Amino acid sequence: MEIKDLRVNGQRLQESMGRMAEIGATPGGGVHRLTLSDEDKAARDLFVGWLNEIDLDVTVDEMGNIFGRRAGKSNGLPPVMAGSHVDSQPSGGRFDGILGVMGALEVLRTLHENSVVTRRPIVITDWTNEEGSRFAPAMVASGVWAGALNIDWAYNRTDVNGNRFEDELIRIGYKGPASCAAWPVHCYYEYHIEQGPILEREGKLIGAPKGIVCLHWYDVFLEGEANQVGPTPMEGRHDALCAAAEMILAVNELPERMGGNLVATVGEIRTHPNSRNIIPDRVHFTVDIRSWDDDHALNAWNSARGNFEEIAARRGCPIKIEETWRVQHSPFDEKLVQRILDIAGYLGYPNLHMVSGAGHDASYMNQVCPTAMIFVPSIRGRSHVEVENTRWEDCEAGANVLLHAVMQSAEEE
Ligand code: GLV
Ligand code: MN
Ligand code: MN
Repeated sequence: MEIKDLRVNGQRLQESMGRMAEIGATPGGGVHRLTLSDEDKAARDLFVGWLNEIDLDVTVDEMGNIFGRRAGKSNGLPPVMAGSHVDSQPSGGRFDGILGVMGALEVLRTLHENSVVTRRPIVITDWTNEEGSRFAPAMVASGVWAGALNIDWAYNRTDVNGNRFEDELIRIGYKGPASCAAWPVHCYYEYHIEQGPILEREGKLIGAPKGIVCLHWYDVFLEGEANQVGPTPMEGRHDALCAAAEMILAVNELPERMGGNLVATVGEIRTHPNSRNIIPDRVHFTVDIRSWDDDHALNAWNSARGNFEEIAARRGCPIKIEETWRVQHSPFDEKLVQRILDIAGYLGYPNLHMVSGAGHDASYMNQVCPTAMIFVPSIRGRSHVEVENTRWEDCEAGANVLLHAVMQSAEEE
């Protein structure tokens, strides 16, 4: 068979996705596979077993990133890399992240069974903690690998129960011996579901994002004064939750007020003591701001912070703000993006040049080497929810695009 006629095995991809979806399966058809949990460990173990089956050289680094290397003809040349993540949101879907890992595995299985030896080596990867849901921030391990984030800072991040990232990494047995530092990479591809409505709306099968928006994460802490709700008059209260409520609406109104390309969200909140008959005295909430334009996102944040300070002062609730994480917008390598569009065209898949509103490890990889992504449609544009879904034939199509993109790059001088 000629190389150009090579295709992945869609049935096998579906079966691998099915096996992974059993790990942390939720009643609503999604997965609960938070980073560094027992479920994350089970998914990693299954993944590593599959890597060994096709004779990859498997290494784990000190952030728990897993790499499987397939030798080429010229092993001194920097490899082509492809991967994504196996962790999920608390009530996440069966496709986010895992499709990119299983898709890359399917590519390597296809090369393996057809005895295709590429010029360059190929490395498949699972990045630790892409989601940032249990331990903020997101994409932390690719960030450390790329040299953008500090490993001790990452190790000391804690979850809501006070568990440290490094301790949990050791507990599940995935603090590896390899140092977490970038090596020369020829290029990186990440295959992913779109997580938005555009491809479906436009009737397209393959998306090639020109890049990823910037992501800014903040943590806000408010103090109020707790008291019995019944006898305490309304005037003179210092209700930290009411202050937060006003601030949350100010965040929600930011995009309309600021105009331009911007989304702003408060997705997480904790209130203390969380009792219906006590005025809340401590609130913590998060802010997520994204835009293609870094300055615009920053201006929006500065405006929101001004609102926060005014509200905090008016309500007598002292405020503390942490600027937790910031990753700049990430324009991908134009040649690689065009390659994705060309391959999709050659394979007969309607395709679209677009933007990624979701964050991906590809953001940090883009700081290390030429990078591009492949998107397939999310049914009804739903993601980070249990009903997240993508048609199996679309999953197969995206994996075929990845196969040919990887093969083309792996033959380059
Ligand atoms: C990553 O899942 C994100 O927040 O976009
Ligand atoms: Mn993802
Ligand atoms: Mn996600």
